[in-house]
Amino acid sequence: MDINWFPGHMHKARQAIARVMPSIDVIVEVLDARLPLASRNPLLRELQGDKPCIRVLNKSDLADDTVTRAWLDYFQREEGSKALALCAKNKKEAMKVIGLSKKMVPKRDYLFKPVRVMMAGIPNVGKSTLINTIVGREITKAANQAAITRKPKHIDLKNGVVLSDTPGILWPKLEDKHGAFLLAASGAIRDTAMSYPEVALYMANHLLGRYPDLLKKRYKLKILPEDGLQLLDTIGRKRGCLVTGGEVDPYKVAELMLRELKNGVIGRISLEQPH
Ligand code: G4P
Repeated sequence: MDINWFPGHMHKARQAIARVMPSIDVIVEVLDARLPLASRNPLLRELQGDKPCIRVLNKSDLADDTVTRAWLDYFQREEGSKALALCAKNKKEAMKVIGLSKKMVPKRDYLFKPVRVMMAGIPNVGKSTLINTIVGREITKAANQAAITRKPKHIDLKNGVVLSDTPGILWPKLEDKHGAFLLAASGAIRDTAMSYPEVALYMANHLLGRYPDLLKKRYKLKILPEDGLQLLDTIGRKRGCLVTGGEVDPYKVAELMLRELKNGVIGRISLEQPH
């Protein structure tokens, strides 16, 4: 879902979450496992008050396992919160959110008062996928479109948990340039001032530093190029991303590399490390 985040919209989104918060017991903050801090909006922590929260590192199937484990430790240390790494498309993994939600409200008689759970996060982190996988059918497409104005409905999972059908939508933070580059590379933000070649160059340098072997394998490189520009040039030539005259087309090669990065074709890659 694409949303243009102008101040009025942010205000409405904030109000929408604040409005439903009193009727929620457990908040599930959905983050992108590859960039958990960049895909986080600190506003949620402010709005959640002292309610228990599960930080879900979603899309962990695309992230580097070692780094994801370090992120889990990082988030487990936050007071009142638990962390889970999962792939929202996998039912067994998605259902862990429900089991843990119940554990976080231990003294509840679920039969009479089910635990009320809401997913929240910035666009594209996988909130709808997670809800749909848990519920077992597609329910959030329409709900998502109107998430900011429409009153959320509750879906009784008949297992002691009631799920809000409308995710709490937060806006991506774009003030920090590094974070904005990571969000653009992950596909969370699209129509921004950042150009594809700029984002691809940023990522090419990141990959050269952190995942040289994956690059070598994917692009069949005998020698690793010295910097991001050279890497993109090499990939462009190998893949025929050329303009008339034989030069590499910066847009075509950027699009190709970012698509392969986003889809996990280059390998399991994390874009952020815990400090
Ligand atoms: P949202 O409600 O938070 O906005 O996110 P949504 O569920 O729509 O998911 C955004 C994209 O991420 C979708 O891809 C979805 O399939 C993908 N996705 C969600 N969870 C996971 C996961 O755990 N692993 C992987 N690999 N992908 C996941 P899409 O429809 O192709 O959209 P796009 O990627 O072209 O934007």
